[in-house]
Amino acid sequence: MRKPQVGIVMGSQSDWDVMQQAARQLKDFGVPYEARALSAHRTPDLLIEWIEGLEKRGVQCFIAGAGGAAHLAGVVASKTTLPVLAVPIPTKNLGGLDSLLSMVQMPKGIPVATFAIGEAGSANAGLFAIAMLALHDAGLAKKLEAFRAKQVAAVKAVKLPELS
Ligand code: RP5
Repeated sequence: MRKPQVGIVMGSQSDWDVMQQAARQLKDFGVPYEARALSAHRTPDLLIEWIEGLEKRGVQCFIAGAGGAAHLAGVVASKTTLPVLAVPIPTKNLGGLDSLLSMVQMPKGIPVATFAIGEAGSANAGLFAIAMLALHDAGLAKKLEAFRAKQVAAVKAVKLPELS
């Protein structure tokens, strides 16, 4: 099995519906990843152990998804200098605005790159990780260009309905 290049972590199993979008992009582009449900407040020691282990195995960046008081991405970033991409998970009471603000308002010094709330943000975090890896991987860069070209073709092919 190839070594994971991206670590995907989420605060709870309930985040998987959203976080699988990031995993899907990586899988489609053939980028090996490891995904775990580990919480910054429920299992902090396990989380840190996992981060350190993945770093040793050569991972290039982390994607962290969490909901509510979403400190997971910040905690991951506190333990690594690798890029951390944060995905705010939608929440029942505040729609994920709580998650978004928790992630995007990181104090100066420990950055996380925060994406849109929910599935679009998760997929984009996957694509962003691919773009970073593609800087040093010509094959991956070609795949990314082909992916973009396909999107252009899809937009060009749109035919809006005629009004009667
Ligand atoms: C956060 O609390 C998780 O990231 C999840 O989005 C939220 C709810 O978790 P569960 O109660 O579903 O386990 O830690």
